[in-house]
Amino acid sequence: MTVDTLIITQPDDWHVHLRDGAMLNQVAPYTARQFGRAIIMPNLKPPVTTAAQAAAYRGRILQATRAYPDFTPLMTAYLTDTIDAQELKNGHSEGIFTAAKLYPANATTNSAAGVTDIRKIYPVLEVMQEIGMPLLLHGEMVGKDIDIFDREAVFLDAVLQPLLDDMPELKVVLEHITTQDAAEFVAAASGNLAATITVHHLQINRNDILVGGIKPHLYCLPVAKREQHRLALRKAATSGNPKFFLGTDTAPHVITDKESACGCAGIFSAPHALENYVQVFDEENALGQFEAFASLNGSAFYGLPTNPRKVTLRKQPQEVPAVIGEGGLVVAPYKAGETLPWQFGDS
Ligand code: DOR
Ligand code: ZN
Repeated sequence: MTVDTLIITQPDDWHVHLRDGAMLNQVAPYTARQFGRAIIMPNLKPPVTTAAQAAAYRGRILQATRAYPDFTPLMTAYLTDTIDAQELKNGHSEGIFTAAKLYPANATTNSAAGVTDIRKIYPVLEVMQEIGMPLLLHGEMVGKDIDIFDREAVFLDAVLQPLLDDMPELKVVLEHITTQDAAEFVAAASGNLAATITVHHLQINRNDILVGGIKPHLYCLPVAKREQHRLALRKAATSGNPKFFLGTDTAPHVITDKESACGCAGIFSAPHALENYVQVFDEENALGQFEAFASLNGSAFYGLPTNPRKVTLRKQPQEVPAVIGEGGLVVAPYKAGETLPWQFGDS
């Protein structure tokens, strides 16, 4: 049977970079148009480390998304070696911090203030475990002698397994998984560990970045791996396993920062996120699992209700623009200039 219209509970995006200032105003409406809620990453300059900063940032996001008044940004704290546990506890109990994000120091964009050794913040993680505040992990082990394609697999053994052994009740989301190793690790772990999967890691492998010329707009961190891993991620996402859910990791950088001798990591996937995800599920003959992955599993893990609204996806081709924005804000959307088989919303 071919399905050409899908009506599902409105999805949430459990991993989003909205930036700040003029870029925030430009990109946030794309996320708010498709999603009911989004987990907002805190890697601003300076990073969001206090509840007051997060509350102010949330205010700016609500202003930027005022055309979509049902949209709810869920804020996160940026963990540092010196983060104050009481600040997290207060922010969480006041409903400002939904979760806290751990960037290993120097793993990615604006992570210089990240955590140098997870054991340094064990007292903070123990408090999070106690109050039921989820820990969101950028799961890469960084080191001069660790190959960039091995960073995630090394992190599983060196950091994640000991952490789960030491804090079995801590709720942990392994963000943007990119390997078969991570998919299998998460599936085998307790119900307190879940993972987000980006749409680009379901669609591209490292050949797409490197063969026939370097494609800076497909460069992100963790970097896409070999084909075997992409296939394992597609299997995990479409399996119906509630431990896997949608998180785009949409991460806009202006085009001149991407097309550069030292190009920034990040893919701006927000404008057509759901169209690309649903295409993957369609190709895998798994449209019946799409609502669980996109709209149900994430909120269940976070202990939140599902969204009240429904959204429609139609199998109707559309072309992705070459660029979005003007002047100093020009950004290339994921799949720029390509034709997508699905459309979001009524048309
Ligand atoms: O590709 C990425 N871009 N990965 C990250 O972890 C950070 C993000 C960004 O903020 O640009
Ligand atoms: Zn991210």
